[in-house]
Formats: sequence, C-alpha cells, structure tokens
Amino acid sequence: MKNRIISFSPPDISDLEINEVIATLKSGWITTGPRTKELERRLAEYCHTSRVVCLNSATAAEELNFKICGIGEGDEVIVPAYTYTATAAAAIHCGAKVVFVDCQADSPEMDYDKLAAAITYKTKAVIAVDLGGIVADYDKIYKIVEEKKDLFVPSGNNDLGKKIQKAVGRVLVFADSAHALGASRNGYMSGQIADFTDFSFHAVKNFTTGEGGASTWKDIPEIDNDEIYHQYQLYSLHGQSKDALAKSKLGSWEYDIVGPWYKCNMTDIMAAIGLCQLDRYPQLLEKRKEIVKKYDNMCDKLGVKKLEHFEKDSTSSYHLYLTRIPGINDMIRREIIIKLAEHGVNTNVHYKPLPMMTAYKELGWDIKDFPRALAYYENLITLPLHTKLTDEDVEYIITNFTEIVSQYI
Ligand SMILES: Cc1ncc(COP(=O)(O)O)c(C=O)c1O
Repeated sequence: MKNRIISFSPPDISDLEINEVIATLKSGWITTGPRTKELERRLAEYCHTSRVVCLNSATAAEELNFKICGIGEGDEVIVPAYTYTATAAAAIHCGAKVVFVDCQADSPEMDYDKLAAAITYKTKAVIAVDLGGIVADYDKIYKIVEEKKDLFVPSGNNDLGKKIQKAVGRVLVFADSAHALGASRNGYMSGQIADFTDFSFHAVKNFTTGEGGASTWKDIPEIDNDEIYHQYQLYSLHGQSKDALAKSKLGSWEYDIVGPWYKCNMTDIMAAIGLCQLDRYPQLLEKRKEIVKKYDNMCDKLGVKKLEHFEKDSTSSYHLYLTRIPGINDMIRREIIIKLAEHGVNTNVHYKPLPMMTAYKELGWDIKDFPRALAYYENLITLPLHTKLTDEDVEYIITNFTEIVSQYI
C-alpha cells in the first residue's frame, strides 16, 4: 500500500461554514451578537436544555460554571486524575482545592468508591469527564452525592452561588463534556444530565468554532434561568452591565461595571462556523460512528483493548479512539507510535495523567497514588478519528496498525 500522510484531527470545514463567515464579516456585526444568540438557542434545543451560553472555550465555560455556583477558596472540588489539565485548572483558577481520584481498573472513568470516600464537609463539587465522547455514569454520581447529603454545608462566595447551593442541597455535579456534544445516556443528552456542563468547540473537537465552548445547566426550580444567564453574561464580559450590541443602540452609551470579571465571550464569526457545524453535525457523528465500528473490528481481531463506544443505554459522540495494547510498556508504546508515524499515521495519547505533569507534581501530587491511571496510560495509543478520513485512509490505518502491533503481541 502506498504511503499516505494521515493527520490526527483536522477540522472539517465545508463551503457552508466559509460562506457563513463571509456573510458575517460583511454584515457589519462580528463580535457577540445575533449569530451567537442563535447558536445558543439552537444548541439548547439540541441538548434539550433551557439555556446555553456560548463562550470562547470549555475551560472558560467550566470556570464560569464553578463561579456561578459560588465555588472558591476553602472549597474542595473532586476531579478525575485521568483527564486534560483544563478540568482541574478551572477549579484551581477559582481558588478551590482540587482532590484527585484514580480511575477504575481498565477504564478512564473515575473510581466511584474512591469518589465517595473523597467527599468531606468541604466538598462543593465533583466534576466527571465524558472522555472520548462517552457520558460518565452520572446515576452513580448522583446516588453518591445524595447519600453524602448530610456532609454538605451550603455556602457560596456570591449571592447567586449561595442560592444555588441552598436550593440543590448536596455536592454539585459538573460535567466536563468537552468531548461529548451530542452524546447521551439513558435517553438524556449531555447537558441535561449534570447540574452544570461545559462543552469544547476547539479546533480538534467533533464540532468546532475554531476556539470556543459553551455552558448549559439543568433547571433549578427555585432560580430563574434569566438570572443565571445574565450572570454568565456579566462574568464573560468584564462585569459590564450592557453588552456591545446593547451599547450600539442610539444614545445608549452609558454602562456600569458591576464586577472586575473576565473576557471570554464568543464572537459572531465563531458562531457563524458553529451554526453550520450544527446543521452538519448528525452526518458528522454518523461518519465517526462508522469509523469506530471498523476500528472495533480490527481491535477485536488483534486482541487489543479499546475504549468501548457501544455501551448499552448510551450513545457516544465518538470523539477519541483509545486503544490499549496488551503486554507492552511505555517504551514499546513509544516505539509503536514512531513506527506508525514513519508510515504517515499520526497518533496521540489521551492522557498522560495529571499527577505526572510538572505543574501538578509541584503542587504535591504523585502518580504513585494513582496506579490505575498510570496503568491505563502506559500502553495507550489514540488513533486518528475524524471526518476527513476516506475509506482508503481508514483501511490504510488498519493495515499499518495491524502489521506493526502484531509484532509486539
Ligand atoms: C477533557 C477536556 N476538558 C477540557 C478541555 C478544554 O477545552 P478548551 O480548549 O475548549 O478550553 C479539553 C480540551 O482538549 C479536554 O480535552
């Protein structure tokens, strides 16, 4: 088979997105405006939630989710050790203390017994990660936080956060669904399941706006969604009482600054891309699913373990294809990655556990305390999974992966 160059995760941008960006540029309104509001409306419809707030990243979305709930100094947030840095960093940015928990044997999902054991009277939140596009087991998480309800001390470092914590009355459940827009579990869409959810629209994600992200939440009967939505607008736009569109109305120059907050709004140029991606998203997911089926078949033949995308009661967004090659160590894994690269197949590793990273080591964590995360990582290779792959590309990847990996198992 002739050598090909297979990118790991290029964006899938069609003429639709390009033309809509051009239309936005010509429209006279390029920052947050009508297209962002339309994308928020359509994403809420898609996720079956009342509101969505579009922002410039999932990291900002997660951080604002914590802020909205009044989480900060003195609070503990439970985070899986097996995730990308953003999951933990957003809690750290808020001043909270991160408590890492190890994963389950042979799964990147957090160990729910360890989660239960980690809850203290200081715990305000647990964040699960819908890794690779598979919705975590929130039924289990809700059961645990309900059982530990007596330990929960509602506080909150702002008025809205105080109200939310009092109304919910237990540890808040957050979803880092950066990978999982469109995924579902037991018939519920990601976004409908956790108390608060963040999504990523980064360039490598299934659904992209270049950079970008969004927050959504489950209705809290005691609290008006307008109040929550308004607070996201303030947090994401300098605490400015009027956004640029409102200020642009004739004679409407005056505004107040109600808090020295952040600048992480989505622009209409980004939203233009998102609106077209959303039109195309069902087909994009279908294509990813077909590739996953082919890879599953290959892994089953080879005896290679993989992240299971086809689980009863859940529908994946098919974001990452994680393979785990039996009997190899980190050194051999690196050798295989190089051999694949020599054949033009770009692969990746999701993830090197956070306690192995310099910043987290310096903060005092040690991978020795997370043996399952280490074991999950050491023989893992992530294969290219994206909608620019042709059938021939997929065949090429399968042939090369099979040939190379067979030498080691
Ligand atoms: C699990 C997870 N959470 C959060 C993020 C952060 O997303 P963003 O780059 O949109 O902030 C990523 C990005 O890759 C991620 O993989």
